Amino acid sequence: MPDELYPVPAEWARSARYDAAGYEKLYGRSLADPGSFWLEQAKRIDWIKRPEIAGDWSFDEADFHIEWFADGKLNVAANCIDRHLAGRGDQVAIIWEPDDPSEDARRFTYRELHAEVCRFANVLKSQGVKRGDRVTIYLPMIPEAAFAVLACARIGAIHSVVFGGFSPEALAGRITDCDSAVVVTADEGRRGGKRVPLKANVDAAADRAPALKTVIVVKATGGEVAMQNGRDVWYHDAAAGVAADCPVEAMNAEDPLFILYTSGSTGKPKGVLHSSGGYLLWASLTHELCFDYRPGDVWWCAADIGWVTGHSYILYGPLANGATTLMYEGLPNWPDASRIWQVVDRHRVHTVFTAPTALRALMKDGDAFVARTSRKSLKLLGTVGEPINPEAWRWYHEVVGEGRCPIIDTWWQTETGGAMIAPLPGATDLKPGSATKPMPGVDPQLVDEKGTVLHGATEGNLIITRSWPGQMRTVWGDHARFFQTYFTTYPGNYFTGDGARRDEDGYWWITGRVDDVINVSGHRMGTAEVESALVLHPMVAEAAVVGMPHEVKGQGIYAYVTLNAGVTADDALRAELVKWVRSEIGPIATPDAVQFAPGLPKTRSGKIMRRILRKIAEGDVSSLGDTSTLADPAVVDDLVANRVG
Ligand code: WTA
Repeated sequence: MPDELYPVPAEWARSARYDAAGYEKLYGRSLADPGSFWLEQAKRIDWIKRPEIAGDWSFDEADFHIEWFADGKLNVAANCIDRHLAGRGDQVAIIWEPDDPSEDARRFTYRELHAEVCRFANVLKSQGVKRGDRVTIYLPMIPEAAFAVLACARIGAIHSVVFGGFSPEALAGRITDCDSAVVVTADEGRRGGKRVPLKANVDAAADRAPALKTVIVVKATGGEVAMQNGRDVWYHDAAAGVAADCPVEAMNAEDPLFILYTSGSTGKPKGVLHSSGGYLLWASLTHELCFDYRPGDVWWCAADIGWVTGHSYILYGPLANGATTLMYEGLPNWPDASRIWQVVDRHRVHTVFTAPTALRALMKDGDAFVARTSRKSLKLLGTVGEPINPEAWRWYHEVVGEGRCPIIDTWWQTETGGAMIAPLPGATDLKPGSATKPMPGVDPQLVDEKGTVLHGATEGNLIITRSWPGQMRTVWGDHARFFQTYFTTYPGNYFTGDGARRDEDGYWWITGRVDDVINVSGHRMGTAEVESALVLHPMVAEAAVVGMPHEVKGQGIYAYVTLNAGVTADDALRAELVKWVRSEIGPIATPDAVQFAPGLPKTRSGKIMRRILRKIAEGDVSSLGDTSTLADPAVVDDLVANRVG
């Protein structure tokens, strides 16, 4: 069956920066002559010292290193703010839309953003923060989150933003791992009309995070919080005493900009570290290419700043490009399923960038919620975070965009800094469910299990053969783990952890993770993390967690739990375990199914056969494959008989 094809609308082909031939030329040059290509691209950045070298890297163990523009100097915040002051100081930089639609939106021009960020930077300095120090930011989606992030960049401190939905336990782990003495938080967050006790969570985390010395608290809701003398400071008190101007720190291109913790297939979440120059270039270039951003457009990335999508496409990319970026405090479906489209109308948004899981949830609520809004301002629609099923793609295209807005499906990862495979609106004919073609400089390949490169239309594991400027530089505090995780499976290449298919037209289709990472509502989750949380419970002897198909979330969390001898397995305990995981990690890790299992399918050497557990969770019990190598094949019958779902 031929793929459905949605050709580039004639108007886009005419008006966009790149048409099909333009893209081919750009891409070809990026691979043929990377040195001069990237030095030319580097001109989009305002350098304090312009670099003369582009990429200098090797993925080989003997000479492993990754550097971009290493002799350049810049300040990322100056690129996102100061350089726009002369030309567009009075243009709105950030539109902030509150959780509650009856409240007014707030707007900050580039000039106002400059003052806010300088003040925040001076507060950080007054609390002893210096260049290279780590600052943990645990804030809701309020303007201060943007100010805090950019303030760190301004003074050369390394920010580590922790999503406000993470538990005190998870927060403590992240504070401790990067040895961060300062946490910026708020009294409370608001989402969907509910309050999130952020400051109380920090208090609980502090008991387990000895590195923490100072908590800067933004008054967001005015809710009651306990302030600890000598440790906690109100942001507004500290800000009252500082100057409204703060000079920028001249940073080396390779100096770290931020750490962002993300889940892998083993162990604790890793602190993904991004650089200053290469990262900023990548965020800004991909934002311009994929979304053909034009001055005056209102851009809305509906992610949270706690994820990489929020870093690259709410803040760094759009602000570097002088855009008007919208920041939304709330949920896509509160007070009802019209909310996103009402925000679009309210602020005349040109581009919405969101996750397939949100689209699937809204789609379920019916078209009427969309139909009652105008959406005339929309010209592009983007998605990110997980494979988009063609049904959701078509709904986005037909119902939301009324057939006139190209869908920009961007494949990338926390590790990649920005989009890697994605269409260009004026260049790429679209196929629902395909992320289409690689960005300049990105050379994806498919390999089989043995690492043999596969050619033509086929399926395999997705590797990237060469470095690109936005690539992560290390795992914070564990460079060996960085090399081990990404460069040893297929030596000489970056292994993404994803599977993919390339079709006869050279289009890329991401098929999902091939490791023990699952993608729940577009959030990355290591099955090992959920397992360690479960076995911490005093009644649990052993746990194995796998993904299961889920209509809205994409994947759900299916947990097999073996209880200690003598413990009664009942619904009350099941509910308690669900609650336990939520409080250990956070609500995003809520198990969707818990099956009590007297035994897990293990090989004679004690290895859990996850393949079998995945099949049972998927309800695909007719093809469990060879179970004869199991130590006790009978456990499988019990698992099948007691499947939850
Ligand atoms: C998945 C989010 C298919 C993929 C930016 C990847 C996608 C993981 C897409 C990274 C997409 C992200 N199509 N799959 N457009 N975008 N993924 O680090 O499995 O939170 O490896 O970064 O999400 O998730 P992360």
